[in-house]
Amino acid sequence: MSIPPLPSSVLIVGSGGREHALLRSIAGSHRKPRVICAPGNAGMAEEAPCFSVAADDIPGLVALAASEKIELVVVGPEVPLALGLADALRAKHIPVFGPGADGARLEASKIFTKELLLKYRIPTAAAGFFSEAAAAEKWIDAHPVPTVVKADGLAAGKGVVVASTRDEAKAAARALLAEGGKRILIEECLSGTETSLLVIVAGPHYLILPPAQDHKRAGDGDTGPNTGGMGTFCPAPISTEALSLIERTVVKPSVEAIAAEAIDFRGVLFIGLMQTPSGPSVLEYNTRFGDPETQSVLPQLGFDLLAILWAAAQGHLAAHAPTASATTPGGEAVVCVVVAAKGYPGTYAKGDVIGLPSGLPSHTYLLHAGTARNGSGQITSNGGRVLNVVASGKDLAEARERAYAAADAITWSNKYFRRDIGASSLANPPPRRQG
Ligand code: AMP
Ligand code: GLY
Repeated sequence: MSIPPLPSSVLIVGSGGREHALLRSIAGSHRKPRVICAPGNAGMAEEAPCFSVAADDIPGLVALAASEKIELVVVGPEVPLALGLADALRAKHIPVFGPGADGARLEASKIFTKELLLKYRIPTAAAGFFSEAAAAEKWIDAHPVPTVVKADGLAAGKGVVVASTRDEAKAAARALLAEGGKRILIEECLSGTETSLLVIVAGPHYLILPPAQDHKRAGDGDTGPNTGGMGTFCPAPISTEALSLIERTVVKPSVEAIAAEAIDFRGVLFIGLMQTPSGPSVLEYNTRFGDPETQSVLPQLGFDLLAILWAAAQGHLAAHAPTASATTPGGEAVVCVVVAAKGYPGTYAKGDVIGLPSGLPSHTYLLHAGTARNGSGQITSNGGRVLNVVASGKDLAEARERAYAAADAITWSNKYFRRDIGASSLANPPPRRQG
């Protein structure tokens, strides 16, 4: 099936490290498109025009795409997707990479997703759904601990409590239910290794990107509160056999289930997986690129990202999907270390002046997330996750060495980053995947 020529103008929606990574890859396409961003950040503004339209301003973004004659919109964050940005753009015949509000429900409602997983027998933790504390407490009493208590809706990573005692689980259930009468789910706690799998989906067709591993807790050794993600590496150490089991039992059935539910999904299905001793199990779906997974996954791709996003946005991915082996060139490792403001994910200062290193190790670069420029033109902190250091190397050890040398060279009084991104895998280097 033929698809129109690649777009000459692209709008990237969002302002994080993920969007800066997307900007780099898309601007680097052989098509050399004109790329604009909304709202972007200080680093993205050095590479592309940034417009001060907020990522959740749906009419503003549609008007911007129309007035700038944009041929493809690539949506980074989940909130505009859940608010129907893709639907609003498609209604104006503007192609977009990202699902409509129906597909975005797979991230915006954990109960909707759990029901879909159970209906299509896709492996996932057993769960109960509750709107009243008494019933939730009864379930907790009847099941072993630890249990996991989850808010149904979008909560920016703050709606999940892994409770090690029944009292803790009950308190979490009561607290989440008290927040406006929403429903919650409570599920069995799985143990194993977590993996992030980004899958580009267009209807029944999909392309699995190399697996990554995130580090969600704020502190070294997986301690402290959950965050949006403190660092990733790619590829995650998964054997070819394990990956094909994941494809057979999770990816293919998920894509088929979404199509069977008549959801026209054109975007990223990000599958959060737990690799348990009895096989892979779905923790969650997100319906967008991961942050900071994208930062370590995109450098691993052996194809033109814009061509794939464009094909998926047209619903014709099958015609343009490269073979899976094209996604893993050279067996290199990529590490992304998130440099955050001290205090994140709690309270933290904004407006600190940041000194960026004048030179970086080879194969190493910085991406911006929560940054701005002050009146004197200095780079300042403007969020919780502020910068990303991305480094590649012949192996994980070399990539880590480069990334940490660069992170150490950033001068900023409130700088904080985890020192152990990828450390647990050093003893078990990723197996080479066969092409
Ligand atoms: P979610 O947003 O559902 O992915 O949950 C956020 C984090 O909580 C996950 O990345 C896991 O670290 C943890 N988590 C969620 N569900 C479970 C589960 N059933 N068992 C163990 N850990 C879980
Ligand atoms: N890093 C996890 C996420 O993007 O939700």
